[in-house]
Amino acid sequence: MTADQEKKQAALEAVKFIKDNMVVGLGTGSTAKHMIEAVGDLVKNGMNLTCVPSSDATEKLARELGITIVELHEVDTIDVTIDGADEFDDNFQLIKGGGGALLREKILAWNTAYNIIIADSSKDVQKLGAFKLPVEVIPFATKQIFNYLQAEGLKPVQRMKEELPYRTDENNNILDIDISGVNDLQSLEIKLLKVPGIVETGLFLNTTSLIIVGKEGGPVVKHRN
Ligand code: 5RP
Repeated sequence: MTADQEKKQAALEAVKFIKDNMVVGLGTGSTAKHMIEAVGDLVKNGMNLTCVPSSDATEKLARELGITIVELHEVDTIDVTIDGADEFDDNFQLIKGGGGALLREKILAWNTAYNIIIADSSKDVQKLGAFKLPVEVIPFATKQIFNYLQAEGLKPVQRMKEELPYRTDENNNILDIDISGVNDLQSLEIKLLKVPGIVETGLFLNTTSLIIVGKEGGPVVKHRN
């Protein structure tokens, strides 16, 4: 199976958890795209769903597919959110934000009763950190935070797009950092979030209930203990 076939298989398995009249959080990325298309099919087949998107790109695709989109403040809570990940480990810890949507994704995850992560098998790792951790920062403070992260040995790289600093949907910058040498992720998260101007990190340490991985022979469904 190709990685894309694994992504699609995981996405199709995940949408089975969506039931009529649910509020659904829609993730961002190439794996989430398969899920959004499958949600579009559920809606076409008559299911009544209200969806909250995690990015402008996801919102655009969902609207094109006829999915009812609302803003987060229009719902009390989200029943289920389905999203991708850049890496996950055996403890259901994730790195997210490769697609730049980490801030809204993390807000959706925090406000969701049941978070499902869908992924191809390459995202399954023993230890998080081969993928660089995205850190979303306010442009006013990007240079100072870059210098701080460098002094901390985290080798920041400012994310760029077409030779200009990348801007998220919230108009912030992203610094990608190397956490391969870090063992205590909880402490790192607390330390980073104390820095004025760091808005959010792509570490999702405690929100995921279920991980579905596409694999030859059928999807692997991992439940959090
Ligand atoms: C976007 C994300 C994505 O879920 C993550 O980057 C995985 O993307 P893909 O499914 O394209 O591999 O966190 O901010």
